[in-house]
Parts: sequence; structure tokens; C-alpha cells
Amino acid sequence: MIFENAYGIDLGNSSVKIYSALRNKSYSEKNVIAARGREIIAVGDDAYDMLEKEPLDISVKSPMAFGIIGDLELQEIVLYTFFKRINPINPIRFMGTNMFFTVPLDMTAVEKRAYYYVVNGRWLHQNRVYMVESPIADALSCGIDLNNNSGSMLVNMGSQSTELSIISGGKIIMSRKVPIGGKEMNEAICQEVRKRYHLQIGTRTAKRLKIVMGRMFDDKKEARRAVGIDSVSGLPREEIISSQVVNAGIANCVNDLAGEMKTFLERTPPQIAWHIAKEGIYLTGGSTRIPDMDRYLSSCTGVTFNLSDYFEASSLNGLERVIRDHTLRKYAVPIKERKL
Ligand SMILES: Nc1ncnc2c1ncn2[C@@H]1O[C@H](COP(=O)(O)OP(=O)(O)OP(=O)(O)O)[C@@H](O)[C@H]1O
Ligand SMILES: [Mg+2]
Repeated sequence: MIFENAYGIDLGNSSVKIYSALRNKSYSEKNVIAARGREIIAVGDDAYDMLEKEPLDISVKSPMAFGIIGDLELQEIVLYTFFKRINPINPIRFMGTNMFFTVPLDMTAVEKRAYYYVVNGRWLHQNRVYMVESPIADALSCGIDLNNNSGSMLVNMGSQSTELSIISGGKIIMSRKVPIGGKEMNEAICQEVRKRYHLQIGTRTAKRLKIVMGRMFDDKKEARRAVGIDSVSGLPREEIISSQVVNAGIANCVNDLAGEMKTFLERTPPQIAWHIAKEGIYLTGGSTRIPDMDRYLSSCTGVTFNLSDYFEASSLNGLERVIRDHTLRKYAVPIKERKL
């Protein structure tokens, strides 16, 4: 049903990804909002540009915290603004729409309810809400046949967390969210640079260094200029940062993650673990864009990894499949309002 007015939404700590069924198109924008008191200054990519440069009276933050909705009102404003950008002519279209969300597994009832209220509040209302568990969405985008699969492991490395899950026969058997992601890598890079050069750099600079020089096997030595504050004199200074220092920071985080993966695999029932070892672990999420992530993790854990082609868009791609293919709708659980 292509004419259905449905949206697929992947709320992430770093970005919101939206798929519009009507336009058959995906959109992605930073999940950041800038506010001065109750007044909204900027939303999305514009607000992200202000991050770390904002004046004292303006707060720039993400409405999500560790994979769950942290601020309901701000998250609704962000979503409403994005919908208006996607569909500027007819904002009434956001009423009575089917909204499909990817949701993490370990959530309390209150956190689950937040997904309902985020599209049924002051600006967005009368919408129907469906939840698709994010490992299921990732599995669909990786091309795993959910009807007859004996056991697969999925790893989604996002910005503030990494979700490890095991699926068997279309059901999630185990799932764990580890609080290590792209943001922790940026902070680890800041720490390494401070140790080596006595220079305090911002996390945005660290992110830029990670994206241009980050590599799991550092065979090509590189260097980039970066500006920071001298730890001793407190004055601004420019320094040439070597890729070795950047990659040491990234490796610290990834080694911790690999350790978590090993303990997770040890807890897996042996029959399923055997299948996983045979098939390989599926790897998705924005942080897997660091070159050779699959090869490095496999050298740490001894299991092969299959890297997804969709990276950060993999959950949204799974949602798109659920929306377009009605046989997959059984994976979307509706949240209903109580009737008196
Ligand atoms: N080319 C790249 N190299 C390294 N890291 C990258 C690259 N591109 C994006 N990233 C990182 O990927 C992360 C974003 O990934 P993703 O979009 O999957 O996260 P999210 O879904 O918003 O967060 P979460 O799943 O934790 O809620 C960011 O931390 C970003 O720094
Ligand atoms: Mg994500």
C-alpha cells in the first residue's frame, strides 16, 4: 500500500531519521534543539552548528538520553519541525498518520508510553503508534530470514550506546545495551590528546579528527592541525595531531566493547552460539563507518563479522520494509489509548 500516509521514525541520540511512505524518501537530521528559556532558537542541523559555541543563556541539547526519550516536549517540537520541513504545504497531514518507531528492548512501561505521547501531544495529535523492536528492524535490513533462522547476533554501534542482541525464530532471545558509542570515542580522543600534547580540544574537533583519520588498523600515518586550549598556560594553541593518538583513543573504546561482546557470547546458549559462529555477527550503526571495524572486532573475538551496507540507516531501512511489506506488519506492535 504505497498511498498509505505512514512515517517510519528512528529516534537516535545523534540524529532523527524519518522515512515518508507517501514520498518514498528518507530524511535525516541532527537530534539537537537550542532554546533560551521557553523560546526555541534553532532545531536540527542549525542547532548542531551552535553546539559548544552557544552563549551562556542558550542551552543546546539532544532530547534523547542513552537511547530513550529524555525530554518529551522538546522531542515533540523536534519531530513536528522535521515533519513541517518534509511537508511544508499541508501540516494537517501529520494528524491521523501511522507512525512506526524503532524502540530499544529494555524499556520500562513509562518509557514505552513516551513514544505514544511524543506524537500525540500539543502539536502532533490523533496519530496511531506502532513499535518495531530495533534489533528486528536491523535484522530485516541485513536480509536475515526471520521465519526460519536458528540464531543470529546483531550489533548496532550508535552514538551513545551499542545494542547487542540475539534473535532466533523471529524473536529476540537476549538483548543488552552497552553505554559505549561514537560519543565515548570522541571523549577518549580528547583524553589521549590531552595526555600526549597537554592540549584541551573540544568534542566536535575530536569527532572531526575521528572521521578524517580514524582507522582500526593504523598502517597509513597521517596528521591534522587542531586548535585547543593549552592545559598549562590556559591559552589557545594549534598543534599537529598524529593519527596514532586519535586511533589509540578509538581503540580504547572498541577494546572495551569487544570485551562486552565476548561476555555476551559466553552467556548465549551453545546451540545458538554455534550458529552465530558459522554465520558471523551482523554489524550496523554509524560508528561502524570507521574503516576495518569488522576486521578488528573479529581479531578480538575470533568470530567473523558481516558489515551492513546501510550503516546508521539500517534500522530505518528495516522500518521501511515493515511499512511497505504487509506480511512483515506482524513485527509492528500497536500502542493503543485506553477507552473509558
Ligand atoms: N565516517 C564516520 N566515521 C566514524 N564515525 C562516524 C562516521 N559517521 C558517523 N559516525 C558516528 O556515528 C554516530 C552516529 O551513529 P547513529 O546514527 O547510528 O547513532 P544514533 O542512532 O543517532 O544513536 P543511538 O543509536 O546511540 O541512539 C556518531 O557518533 C558519529 O560520530
Ligand atoms: Mg541508532
